[in-house]
Amino acid sequence: MKIFLDTANVKEIREAAGWGILDGVTTNPSLVAKEGRDFLEVVREICAIVPGPVSAEVVSTTADEMIKEGRDILRRVGAPNVVIKIPMIREGLRAIKTLSSEGVKINTTLIFSPSQALLAAKAGAAMVSPFVGRLDDISQVGMEIVRDIRTIFDNYDFKCEILAASIRHPVHVVEAARMGADIATLPFAVLEALIKHPLTDIGLQKFLKDWEKMPQQARKA
Ligand code: E4P
Repeated sequence: MKIFLDTANVKEIREAAGWGILDGVTTNPSLVAKEGRDFLEVVREICAIVPGPVSAEVVSTTADEMIKEGRDILRRVGAPNVVIKIPMIREGLRAIKTLSSEGVKINTTLIFSPSQALLAAKAGAAMVSPFVGRLDDISQVGMEIVRDIRTIFDNYDFKCEILAASIRHPVHVVEAARMGADIATLPFAVLEALIKHPLTDIGLQKFLKDWEKMPQQARKA
């Protein structure tokens, strides 16, 4: 499973990229607004740090405007790894169809049901983003739609990737991998939490302490 960071914070992206396990980045208007920086400048900077796909979201709501905005983002960012994020609304479908037939990679966002994912894939989206955490928030098991989408895409051999989004904790990440999601996009704090285990820290402390007890001479190779 590919691991993306769900952030527009370049410091976090640089840090995770340095760990050698970062495959891409997703942003959304809320995450970009939080940084208080120029949208296109941030996307350009992220694209230069991460060679994998970087999602940049449109904020228009009619198909014609979304198409225009998507083309504009691609032209002005000028990086080969930009993916245009389009919301799963009626107008979004036509925008996905048009842009994907021009070879633009589309990530369909705000997916909350398998039927929405099916339509996005049929329209030509390269990725669908089911929002797992937000479904959990309203007492629906979000991960179940990841499983259903996996079954549907496999039944019909859709090449569209399943990007598990709105991930809130490490268990979501493990579940996404078990369900066969192609990608999970994580907040930086969740990525950090994946590394940690108290027994690893305790174990390492003990190894180092025991090593210190060895006579200097015996420690040399
Ligand atoms: C996906 O691409 C979205 O940016 C994101 O995962 C939304 O997550 P949230 O529900 O934590 O805002």
